[in-house]
Amino acid sequence: MLWIKSLHIIFMVTWFAGLFYLPRLFVYHAMSEDAASIERFKIMERKLYYGITTPGGVLTLVFGTWLWLGYGFTGGWLHAKLALVAVLVGYHLWCGKILRDFRDDANTRGHVFYRWFNEFPVIVLIAVVILVVVKPF
Ligand code: HEM
Repeated sequence: MLWIKSLHIIFMVTWFAGLFYLPRLFVYHAMSEDAASIERFKIMERKLYYGITTPGGVLTLVFGTWLWLGYGFTGGWLHAKLALVAVLVGYHLWCGKILRDFRDDANTRGHVFYRWFNEFPVIVLIAVVILVVVKPF
């Protein structure tokens, strides 16, 4: 089980690396006016989303589910954690929609919105780690 949990944590860190950096790219992309920068951000966002963030997310869920069902974990902490993970998957998919809007030069939001948007995964990370390590209920 410890090998599975290690892989779960490694891919969780990979997922969050992308969830922290991608919205930051959206901030700078929304502030960009020159064509060279805009094209560069499109490439960086696509590679980060499909090459790191999505594989990290999928493998976090695969090994987390393996831990949950393979070793019979249960408890209020896990239900609360799964609810937060569902919200995080929604945030991930929203990032994909925003990435496609930028790709099509159809983004309508400004950099201030993305600065606040960028903070949301931090809150989820703190809550999930406390739930799974402390198991308060
Ligand atoms: C479908 C999604 C997920 C499921 C089913 C799941 C399930 C689990 C289970 C059953 C454990 C073992 C708990 C223990 O050994 O006490 C675990 C450990 C852990 N999970 Fe997840 N997890 C999921 C997603 C996540 C996410 C998104 C994060 C990060 C925000 C995360 C962070 C952790 C951490 C840090 C541990 C190690 C806790 C420890 O060793 O005490 N998990 N997970």
